[in-house]
Amino acid sequence: MHFPVSMLPPDAALPAPSAEALAHSGALISRVAGAIVAAGGWISFARYMEMVLYSPGLGYYDGGSAKFGGAGDFVTAPELSPLFSRTLARQVAEVLAATGGSVLELGAGSGRMAADLLIALDELGQLPEQYWMLEVSAELRARQRDRISKLPAQLGRKAAWLDRLPERFTGVIFANEVLDALPVHMVVWRDDGLFERGVTWRSERLEFDDRRLTDTDLLAAAGRLGLDSPYLSEVGLAGPALVRSLASRLERGLLLFIDYGFGQTEYYHPQRSQGTLMCHYRHRAHDDPFVFPGLQDITAHVDFSAIAHSGVDSGLALLGYTSQAHFLINLGITDLLSRMPADRVSAYLPHASAVQKLLSPAEMGELFKVIALGRGLDKPLTGFLHGDLSRLL
Ligand SMILES: C[S@@+](CC[C@H](N)C(=O)[O-])C[C@H]1O[C@@H](n2cnc3c(N)ncnc32)[C@H](O)[C@@H]1O
Repeated sequence: MHFPVSMLPPDAALPAPSAEALAHSGALISRVAGAIVAAGGWISFARYMEMVLYSPGLGYYDGGSAKFGGAGDFVTAPELSPLFSRTLARQVAEVLAATGGSVLELGAGSGRMAADLLIALDELGQLPEQYWMLEVSAELRARQRDRISKLPAQLGRKAAWLDRLPERFTGVIFANEVLDALPVHMVVWRDDGLFERGVTWRSERLEFDDRRLTDTDLLAAAGRLGLDSPYLSEVGLAGPALVRSLASRLERGLLLFIDYGFGQTEYYHPQRSQGTLMCHYRHRAHDDPFVFPGLQDITAHVDFSAIAHSGVDSGLALLGYTSQAHFLINLGITDLLSRMPADRVSAYLPHASAVQKLLSPAEMGELFKVIALGRGLDKPLTGFLHGDLSRLL
């Protein structure tokens, strides 16, 4: 997961980047400063987040840093153990058995999940027509190709990459920890009205700057939340827009998102009055998005109510919403763990410890949720048979 979730105290020192990494970050700061000046002195936080995460060659996801795993900045579930992807494969196989068609993975990261899923789907006798990946980062696409090239040829042949969403799709579309990486707007509720927190360039520094909120879509989305001032939070327009776009292309099948977040009542709880923005740098979490731009990840929790509404408003059925722990247990992760040979303790223990992290309420089990939206699926999905929370959205 994006581990650790415990925040650093504000004065805690972060490990110093190398001179080369600092130069990389400096080049990105210049690019952002140029964009701010060109825009008249201010850009939205969403534009800032998009630039520092995805600028070609310089953004965090397109630069060369390790990102995932022990040598990187955070760990995601598929990187912890193949048992995560093998368990998810059972849900994917169940849907493919009904719909046929392909799999589309959005934001495939290192490609490990794609490789593990292809192996597991093969074992389940339910290989898709094609295993598509849609990835915005050219650098990660290269890593994915490298990972897939190590698979047996008959599995590797199933993998292919898309530059844009297909016009029509049947099968399973899924994304693990992608919604949290989409740019969000920051909105400030004040006694004198709604403001948007953006970024300015002042005295050679990036700084927050609040302007009266004027963007019509953002005003509508923030207004619908009906929050009392003073309050600060993120409002994501990109996640719901992605769901609308996917819904319009899905002829038959499943749309599944796994990520950390909550429904709106919890997300915009009066006590969460400073939002959910988090930055990750070498396994330290903090809340300053101006530290080492391009070298650290920036994320926000997912508003699952907004995701559900955009799917349902686009004609999809809400098929389930539950915690990651319930989803994985419903699909038999403990059964898969029990089949691992326990006699070689050094090989077994990492999997047992990963399963504990994936399921524990104190780690990923409850903060992470799984949401399923679909079209033309009439049977209940096994992953949501127990512990369905969808009525709470
Ligand atoms: C936090 S990483 C998660 C990677 C992987 N799914 C995992 O669980 O390890 C976010 C991934 O989403 C990709 N991404 C971000 N925005 C995207 C978009 N609009 N379409 C496709 N991929 C995107 C990033 O480049 C990156 O691969």
